[in-house]
Amino acid sequence: MEIFISKSEAETIEKGMEFAKQLRPGSFVALYGDLGAGKTQFVKGVCRNFEVRETVNSPTFTIVNEYHGKIPVFHIDLYRMKDLDEIFGIGFDEYLDAGGICLVEWAEKLDGIIPDSRYEVKMSIVDDSTREIAIAYVDGRN
Ligand SMILES: Nc1ncnc2c1ncn2[C@@H]1O[C@H](COP(=O)(O)OP(=O)(O)OP(=O)(O)O)[C@@H](O)[C@H]1O
Ligand SMILES: [Mg+2]
Repeated sequence: MEIFISKSEAETIEKGMEFAKQLRPGSFVALYGDLGAGKTQFVKGVCRNFEVRETVNSPTFTIVNEYHGKIPVFHIDLYRMKDLDEIFGIGFDEYLDAGGICLVEWAEKLDGIIPDSRYEVKMSIVDDSTREIAIAYVDGRN
C-alpha cells in the first residue's frame, strides 16, 4: 500500500493523473471516503491522463458519467443506491465489460459483487486543505 498526503485540490488531481498511468482497459478502481474527501477530484486527474475533454463532475444524481478519452472512462457514484438490485439496474455489469476504466465512488455499496482484482483508493480528510490518500492493488484470487 502507498500513502500520499495531498495539500491541495490540485495535488490530488496530480496524484490521480500519476496513478492512472498504470490503468488499462478493464481496470476497476474502488474509491472510499466521506463526503468531500476528494474522490471526484482524484477522478478528474485520472480523466486528465486519458485526455478526457468533457467536464468531470460528481455523478451523484446521474449515477454514471461516461467520458470519451483515449479509452472510455466510466465514473460511477453509488451514494444514492439503496441496494444491489438498484446497482444492477443501472447496468453495472455492462460497465465492467465495456473495455474502459471503471471508477466507483462509495464502492462499499458493492458488498459481495466487487471485482476480485481492483485498485482501492481510500481518502480521508485531515484538515480543510489536507487529504490522506491510501492506494492499494488487491487481487482477491490469491
Ligand atoms: N487536498 C485536497 N484534495 C482534494 N480536495 C480538496 C483538498 N483540499 C480541499 N479540497 C476540497 O474538498 C472537496 C472535495 O470534493 P469532492 O467532490 O472531490 O469530494 P468527494 O469525495 O467526491 O465527495 P462526494 O462523496 O460528495 O462525491 C472540494 O471542494 C475540494 O476543493
Ligand atoms: Mg464525488
